[in-house]
Amino acid sequence: MSRPIGVIDSGLGGLTVVAEIMRQLPKEEIVYIGDSARCPYGPRTMEEVRTFTWEMIARLQRENVKMVVIACNTATAVVLEEARERLEVPVVGVIQPGATSAIQASARQHIAVIGTTGTILSNAYAIALQEINSDVQVESLACPLFVPLVEQGIFSGDEAERVVRESLEPLGAFDFDALILGCTHYPLLKEVIASHLPRAVAVISSGEETAREVSSLLFHHNIQRKSGDKPVHRFFTTGGAVHFRELASQWMDITMPTVESIQLPMLAERPRVDK
Ligand code: DGL
Repeated sequence: MSRPIGVIDSGLGGLTVVAEIMRQLPKEEIVYIGDSARCPYGPRTMEEVRTFTWEMIARLQRENVKMVVIACNTATAVVLEEARERLEVPVVGVIQPGATSAIQASARQHIAVIGTTGTILSNAYAIALQEINSDVQVESLACPLFVPLVEQGIFSGDEAERVVRESLEPLGAFDFDALILGCTHYPLLKEVIASHLPRAVAVISSGEETAREVSSLLFHHNIQRKSGDKPVHRFFTTGGAVHFRELASQWMDITMPTVESIQLPMLAERPRVDK
């Protein structure tokens, strides 16, 4: 099938998921929307996150996508269930895949989760983990200073070390053997975060497992792209296109021929419902 996979995020962070989809599914075409103008979503109200996310989904529908990947933990926590109910195309979030990976990696089923304030308050990871194993022990911690750090392009060095060390301090008393990076931006701080944890702790980012879920759904629905032509990806941002492209190339090795700047109006009503 020649329709693209739609991926949305509050900004650039979802590109960590895109990079994995491109690696695991190099034939697929991707349309990405990053709502950089209204990033971060983490501290916003649920209603704002819901409205903004549906606006991005409506824009993806105009691109005739065959699947929607909500590559933002905060948006997944708020919108995933209703998007699955209302859209005809398969919808993938990043929380369930992250939880599945952590359960697999944790020998003792003592798991810590870090994320934005919105994601942690939603308790979505604890719920997803307990759905898999009701005996799992979960410790959740919001790290609101990590996203601004990454947005400034600071992934290592003294400031990153200090912010990470101070933010993770409350986890010190908890004896976990897996840590979920429950935010799209955090994989960019993975090395610093791992250096402040005991060696035995597995550090989990959802990107890999999310791409695996995308892959299995494509095959399950028989909607994988069959063409051997080189895929043409499209990137949209609600912020500045030049800034988006610069940061994306600084962050990760994604070939991004063009980035288009778009506007997402505040919707009075929800967008089209497929079913
Ligand atoms: N994409 C968001 C998430 O994964 C992080 C950035 C934000 O707060 O918008 O939760």
